[in-house]
Amino acid sequence: MRHLMSPLDFTVEELEKLFDLANDIEANPDKYKHICEGKKLATCFYEPSTRTRLSFESAMYSLGGQVLGFSDAGSSSAAKGESVSDTIRMISCYADICAMRHPKEGAPMVAATKASIPVINAGDGGHQHPTQTLTDLLTIRSLKGRLNHFTIGLCGDLKFGRTVHSLINALVRYENIKFIFISPEELRIPDYIIDMLKAKNIPFEEVIRLEDSMPELDLLYMTRVQRERFFNEEDYVRLKDFYILDKKKMQCAREDMLVLHPLPRVNEISVEVDDDPRAAYFRQVQYGVYVRMALIITLLELQEG
Ligand code: CP
Repeated sequence: MRHLMSPLDFTVEELEKLFDLANDIEANPDKYKHICEGKKLATCFYEPSTRTRLSFESAMYSLGGQVLGFSDAGSSSAAKGESVSDTIRMISCYADICAMRHPKEGAPMVAATKASIPVINAGDGGHQHPTQTLTDLLTIRSLKGRLNHFTIGLCGDLKFGRTVHSLINALVRYENIKFIFISPEELRIPDYIIDMLKAKNIPFEEVIRLEDSMPELDLLYMTRVQRERFFNEEDYVRLKDFYILDKKKMQCAREDMLVLHPLPRVNEISVEVDDDPRAAYFRQVQYGVYVRMALIITLLELQEG
C-alpha cells in the first residue's frame, strides 16, 4: 500500500507515468468513468479549501466512485478531542482512500502510519502540498512540453507557502533548472531549502524586485501572502500587497512566459492579467482534476477496462 506525503514519494519515471495517465484521462475521459465503481474516497479537511477538496471530489465522481468526509474540523469529532490517529482508523473502515489536509505539519504522515488505506497529504501546515505540485508539474509539462531547462521565478510568500516548498523539492530532480526567489526580506525562502540547493549545486538568486527578474523568466509562480500562518495581523497587512502583477509588469515578460498560481488569489495578480494568454492559473485548476484522477487510480492500483 502506498501513500503520498511528498512529491518525492514518486520517482521521476513514476511521475512521467502518472502524467501520461492524466493526459490520457483528459483525452479519453469515457475510458475511466467506471474505474472506481464501488470505491469510496474520504476527504478529511481540518483546514479550509476550495480547489483541493472539490477537485478530489470531482475526480472521484468522474471515475465512478463515491465521496464522504468533512470540510471543517469543527464539524468532526476533532472538536471533542479525537486524535488524527484514531480518526484515520475509523476512516479506514469507511473508505478505500483518504485525502487529508491539516494545519499541523506531519499530521497526514501520522495518519498514514495508522491507516489501512492509502493516505494523501492534501496540505500540512506550511510544510508540503504534494498534489498541488503534481498539478503544477502536469500544467508545465502539458503547456511547455517539458519539465527541464527552465528559469522559474517564485514570487511572494516563500517562507510560509507550502506549494513553493513542494514545487522546489520536485523541480530539483530535473535538468538545468534555475530558481529566482522574489520575496520581501521577512518572507524569504527557508534556510533548509537554500542549504539543499547549495548542496546540489543548483543555481538560484534571491531578489526583492519582481520587475528586474521578469525578462529572464520562463515561468513565474505567484503566491498569496499566507495570512493564516502569521503571528500578528500588523505584519500581514504590511506585506500583503508587496507584489501586484499587473499588465504593465507583464510587458517586461517574454512572449511565452507562463504565469502560474496555486490559488486562491487575493491581490497579487490583478484581474486585468487574467485575459493575457500567458496567464495559466485557471487552466492549472483543470489539470488538478486530471492529475488527482490519475493519482487515485494509481494508489488504488486499478486498471482501466
Ligand atoms: N491551491 C489550493 O490548495 O487551494 P485550496 O486551498 O482552495 O485547496
